[in-house]
Amino acid sequence: MGLVSLIALSVGATLGTGIFVVLGEAAPLAGPAVVISFAVAALAALFSALSYAELAGAVPVSGSAYSYTYATLGEIVAWVCGWCLLLEYGVSVAAVAVGWGSYLNEFLDSTIGWRIPDALASAPSEGGIINIPAAVVVLIATAVLLDGIRESARVTTITTMIKIAVLIFFVVVAVTAFNSDNLQPFAPMGVAGISAAASMVFFSFIGFDAASTAGEEAKNPQRDLPRAIIISLGIVTLVYVLVALTAVAAVGVDDVSSSGASLATVLEQVTGKGWPATILAAGAVVAIASVVLTVLYGQTRILVAMSRDGLMPQVLSRVGRKRVPTINTLVVGGVVAVLSALIPLGELVNATNIGTLVSFALVNIGVLVLRRTKPDLPRTFRTLVPLVPILGVGLCVWLLGHLPAVTWMAFLLWSAVGLVVYFGYGRRRSALNRAAVQETETV
Ligand code: ALA
Repeated sequence: MGLVSLIALSVGATLGTGIFVVLGEAAPLAGPAVVISFAVAALAALFSALSYAELAGAVPVSGSAYSYTYATLGEIVAWVCGWCLLLEYGVSVAAVAVGWGSYLNEFLDSTIGWRIPDALASAPSEGGIINIPAAVVVLIATAVLLDGIRESARVTTITTMIKIAVLIFFVVVAVTAFNSDNLQPFAPMGVAGISAAASMVFFSFIGFDAASTAGEEAKNPQRDLPRAIIISLGIVTLVYVLVALTAVAAVGVDDVSSSGASLATVLEQVTGKGWPATILAAGAVVAIASVVLTVLYGQTRILVAMSRDGLMPQVLSRVGRKRVPTINTLVVGGVVAVLSALIPLGELVNATNIGTLVSFALVNIGVLVLRRTKPDLPRTFRTLVPLVPILGVGLCVWLLGHLPAVTWMAFLLWSAVGLVVYFGYGRRRSALNRAAVQETETV
């Protein structure tokens, strides 16, 4: 993979349900100032991206934040980080898949006038029985991944183009209805509202680090990974701010948040016609499916890294035909499909955010530690220490503080299970521990 493929991988993993659906859920929290929320979340992502870039250029291995933490902060912290990343990647795929279902329904409605009934397209706690479209898109992505990375990378590049094209189309149409009255009052809920919305839309930035999970497939990882990460983040931030601003200015906050497929609804209102919404929904269906694909891919690679380090069962790193970790992919696809079928979007989004913010905080700390422990290690990219990593940790903690209590409870439970697994399984079998035992035996 060259620089362009890596950027396509990252942008492809990032632009998705966050802008297409979560914008609508976050807008009522902040009002028009949701635009500022995107900027705040982008800053948290940017500072962490710079830390990612430094570590990607110094520790070029697959497995993302997990591997970086392993190399810098040691095994148990890496375990915590990997365990959080299972939330970031695994649960976010489920969230993205749920968003995909909203646009599939919008597309069906606007083309053939029929929708999948709510009972079969939403989670039990939202009055449905099961979310079938969400589970189906996950299973399709699993099948594509089982067919090998090459095909997946090509598919990702094409769908990323489609996604950017439909979002530009959205901005061009929505801007024709720009009305500054819709931006007043700008921040009705003040700083608290902006922060709460920022913790939620942080979701839309997740995935920019996807390129780092492909470290071993990159042609020139030390040079290209840092660049890919930063360029991808720049592209998505620009797109988000433009989309959020034009959407709210065109129809006002209330109408942006009136349906799951919020951007399609905005276009319907702005034009009074059905076809622009149909084009957008069609693009979203193709495009969001690509996020499912890319993030699912990232998840399998993190598990491979954890399994190679002995922290997860060996079978998860066993590769079959076309170097695909078959069993790993099947397990991940199966678990994510069940989550997406049964849990509503908002809860999946917040669970993803909490896991990601913790792992980002650790990556920032990892940079500070590595500068101290290995100051002479060659680094192809250097962030500004200690300022930027410290700001990164600070912003992550700030956003963590604005997540709902129920998310925190779920997270503490998840961490407790993680520690039980580590002390019951991973610690005894880990590569680090085996090496230590061998060393003692030779002495
Ligand atoms: N950033 C990804 C999305 O918004 C997870 O869909």
